[in-house]
Amino acid sequence: MFERLERMPDDPILGLMAAFRADADTRKVDLGVGVYRDDRGETPVLQAVRQAEQAVLARQTSKTYVAPAGNAGYNQAMERLVFGEAHPTLKSGRIRTIQAPGGCGALRVGAELIRVAMPEAVVHVSTPTWANHVPLLTGSGIKLERYAYYDPATGGVNFSAMMDALDRLPARAVVLLHGSCHNPTGADLSEAQWRDVLALVSRRGLIPYIDMAYQGLGTGVAEDAYGVRLFTAELPEVLVAVSCSKNFGLYRERTGVLHIISQTPAAADAVLSQLVRIARTIYSMPPDHGAAIVQEILSNESLRGTWLDEVGSMRTRIANLRRDVVARLAKAYPQRDFSFIERQRGMFSYLGVNVDQVRALRQSHHVYMTDDSRINIAGLRKDNIAYFADSVAQVLAATK
Ligand code: LMR
Repeated sequence: MFERLERMPDDPILGLMAAFRADADTRKVDLGVGVYRDDRGETPVLQAVRQAEQAVLARQTSKTYVAPAGNAGYNQAMERLVFGEAHPTLKSGRIRTIQAPGGCGALRVGAELIRVAMPEAVVHVSTPTWANHVPLLTGSGIKLERYAYYDPATGGVNFSAMMDALDRLPARAVVLLHGSCHNPTGADLSEAQWRDVLALVSRRGLIPYIDMAYQGLGTGVAEDAYGVRLFTAELPEVLVAVSCSKNFGLYRERTGVLHIISQTPAAADAVLSQLVRIARTIYSMPPDHGAAIVQEILSNESLRGTWLDEVGSMRTRIANLRRDVVARLAKAYPQRDFSFIERQRGMFSYLGVNVDQVRALRQSHHVYMTDDSRINIAGLRKDNIAYFADSVAQVLAATK
């Protein structure tokens, strides 16, 4: 049976992790996989997580199953974190939440739900979008198409092209939007643009599916949820997939959540019953540990304060690195304007070099980024930022 199988190519993001680890050069710079790193290049366990974890373990008396929809306390805490304490949706009876194994698990369960509800559904994703969106969503059997989004000339959103594309979609087309810190480009919608997209989505009867994987790492915990909160307050049906990997640093604990807003409480009940059935047929129930930690943090005022401080530090470090790398690149290679990097948000930017230049950076300079030239800004440090800028300048000068 297995002799017929072909070997799959490495994952474009996770494959880089292995290549980087195998590189023995001490100058190597990892701007590949999207994990936050501190100025020592480490991805530490957050203090809030460490303390919450101790409390959770001290209290835990059983490892028995929790519930098909996961930890109810965590699900409610996440609703309040994502939507804000006083959001109208929370009192509407129209929201249902299921804990999921990471943002990926949430995205996939949501895609499976869409396929059950609307087998002919097409999900429209931004050009470009996170590489794993494509297999995650199409793996459920739904079709995927693309809408215009990023403008390489400005490093921002090509908003008129985006609006034109969305305006041509048929009613009930599903539109995948990034809540904040667009992966892979770092180009986000402004608040005014979110309002314009809302008006269009509402007029054309489109169904938004918002992926929020970086709440707190862009402008702020509330600010990064602006689009989610606006859309869910105004529209009859919205899906929101949330990841706690980055903002809680819980990557390997696979901690996420899927919120679904339905038109009526009865429809919401049907949705939840479908969600738990979908989960049961794939992984039965989500892993507990990360969710228990997040619940502990969000329900304890002191831990919540510690966590907010830590997310704030990560956000500030990334913003400072954006400023510093723009200055370094301007010095090393003044022929090109990289100032767009400072205007973008979150962990990622497109450097805007071609695939040969990406390969040259990897092979000759040991600087790792994905082939589309996405860089993880958090992988830069005081002691490698000049080397990175000089490497980029050398490759650009040699290949222009
Ligand atoms: C990334 O985009 O690098 C991260 O979200 C990690 C992943 O799973 O791809």
